[in-house]
Amino acid sequence: MTINNGILLAGGNGTRLFPLTHSVNKHLLPVDGKFIIDYPINTLKQMGVENLTVVLGGSHFSLVVDHLKDGRDHNLNINYIYQGEARGISQAINLCQRYVSDQDRFAVILGDNIFSDPIKLFEADESATIIVCKHHELNRFGVATFNDDELIAIEEKPKVLSDTFRQYAITGCYLFDQQYFEFFKTLTPSARGEYEICDIITQYWKHDKLDTTAYSGELWSDAGMHESIARCNQYFYNKNNSGVI
Ligand code: DAU
Repeated sequence: MTINNGILLAGGNGTRLFPLTHSVNKHLLPVDGKFIIDYPINTLKQMGVENLTVVLGGSHFSLVVDHLKDGRDHNLNINYIYQGEARGISQAINLCQRYVSDQDRFAVILGDNIFSDPIKLFEADESATIIVCKHHELNRFGVATFNDDELIAIEEKPKVLSDTFRQYAITGCYLFDQQYFEFFKTLTPSARGEYEICDIITQYWKHDKLDTTAYSGELWSDAGMHESIARCNQYFYNKNNSGVI
């Protein structure tokens, strides 16, 4: 399955990466000799995306435009949307409606998500797909809980984890259809004042229109904290140098 339209979120304030993000946009920090943002762009291209909408915001957002320009260097057609205030991932996606409405489905990726390998998409019947992955720090992420194969809960950054059920992090890569924009109208901001992506995913789930796919690559990580950037660098260094320090 290939997806033509994609959205990449490169807004937000990057507060977990202070002091670096006082001087640079977080998506332009380096991982293994590339900009962070180049990894999610590559992931979308592997899915077949040719038309990309990039959401800009936060500090030094214009550096992202300096890097991507009109997309020609990446073989992409790029449009930009400016998100004046970081009001949440689902609000940022909602701003892009006019650029993704010519086809039913579109892909979304968070600009700080690094996947070492392509995401394998299956011909899904459902209107939305989330990509889930095992992770050792589940309470930093959206979490999907399963009883055997049945999805029984979706929660953003749960404080308490289950001893009984299988739990996976919900990665920052999603497929949605045009119903997204109808579901968004029903959302209200969370306690932290953001329109949460897990609330949209819950809407699809409650309407029985959600697929989950397990990521089968070697590394998935966000690059939103100093520790996670170090982990990504270490992974690529070891891979390229057979673990020799
Ligand atoms: O990395 C996966 C996780 O990303 C998911 O498991 C969570 O469900 C999801 O909420 C998100 O959690 P984070 O707290 O890590 O998201 P963060 O605020 O760091 O934003 C992730 C990216 O989205 C980042 O590259 C900036 C962009 N963003 C974020 C917000 C809140 C925007 O463009 N606009 C926004 O308003």
